[in-house]
Amino acid sequence: MLEKKRILLIVSGGIAAVKVPDLIRRLRERGASVRCIVTKGGAQFVTPLSLAALSGEPVYQDLFSLKDESEMGHIRLSREADIILVAPATADIMAKMVAGMADDLATTALLATDKPVMIAPSMNVMMWTHPATQSNLQILKDRRVEVVGPGAGDLACGEVGDGRMAEVLDIVGALTQFFQKREHKGGLVGVRALVTSGPTHEPIDPVRYISNRSSGKQGHAIAASLAELGAHVTLVTGPTHEPVPNGVQVVHIETAAQMMNACRTALPTDVVVCAAAVADWAVDGANGSKIKKSGGKMPALKLTENPDILASLSQPGPQRPGLVIGFAAETDNLLENARAKRAAKKCDWIVANDVSIGTGTFGGDSNTVHLVTAEGVEEWPTLSKRAVAERLAARISAHIQRHR
Ligand code: C5P
Repeated sequence: MLEKKRILLIVSGGIAAVKVPDLIRRLRERGASVRCIVTKGGAQFVTPLSLAALSGEPVYQDLFSLKDESEMGHIRLSREADIILVAPATADIMAKMVAGMADDLATTALLATDKPVMIAPSMNVMMWTHPATQSNLQILKDRRVEVVGPGAGDLACGEVGDGRMAEVLDIVGALTQFFQKREHKGGLVGVRALVTSGPTHEPIDPVRYISNRSSGKQGHAIAASLAELGAHVTLVTGPTHEPVPNGVQVVHIETAAQMMNACRTALPTDVVVCAAAVADWAVDGANGSKIKKSGGKMPALKLTENPDILASLSQPGPQRPGLVIGFAAETDNLLENARAKRAAKKCDWIVANDVSIGTGTFGGDSNTVHLVTAEGVEEWPTLSKRAVAERLAARISAHIQRHR
């Protein structure tokens, strides 16, 4: 994804600038070219000479340098890039970007550009959480500036908290996703997609139900990512706290049986992603009125198996969507079980994720998955659920384009 991409890297004055040489190395390893602008502050932490040596390009520092201007004006510098990455981005440079200041080469290039901009903020936790920085961050996001990190941890100032620049590989990952998304933009126009998400609630009586810990974050993010690429998306979701993504048609259900009906109604579609954690069992003959305690005598719940929506949608036939994707949330023998599930349910791909205690997958914001297809198993790095969704949507788009 980063092959032949031209990155203008602005290094501002934070201690995390010491990670920039590694960042340049990683970007170049992936085929990107990197040209650096370093601010006066940045040059206090990393020498322009090492940036030049690692990038294999001159390093630009001075707005008024005749030499630089004769070789490469600041306007050209900012336009001859595919993206401008500010790493580290200090509170100061973020504030200047918001205000539209242009008092050095870095800020002038940022103001003069018509290219996408990504920032990797890095600062002390109090500076990061200060309302001024948070409001600047929001303004930059509203202007479609991409933001990667910061993470939490030990800070150079000795304090602990949010403000550490994102790890080098996370910045590389964010750039990769950015280009991936752009490449596939519009790739799903005209494609109909169905996504299931969230848990189901299987009533025991009017006030109680059987359910699970699914948050719906992953399924909702997949619906959003498919819609962003232009797909017409129907999201069938159980009860969750997740907001309905923009541009997605939503059907709210409670039980597995209702989810099955809603999915059938949404057919025909080209793609189905079953990300819902459908309860395996419903209570047979759920009570119409609230079950009362009766002197230590336990009520017996008789369970009946729910319909398997994924398996049912995967059945060969004229209504079968071209690409059916299921999830395998496992606590043991992840890949073995995922492969077996793919075969048993007759779906095309399985996204396998480890949901053992400690992985934080259920309800958490990140996910470590493997994609199991007929061709084999792909191991994906730990990504945010949003990033997993974007990557999956990009894979779906590439697959559909290949089979059009
Ligand atoms: O069999 P298991 O629940 O582990 O399979 C998980 C996959 O099957 C997920 O994609 C889930 O959405 C789907 N599924 C379904 N209907 C069910 C049970 C699971 O669609 N009743």
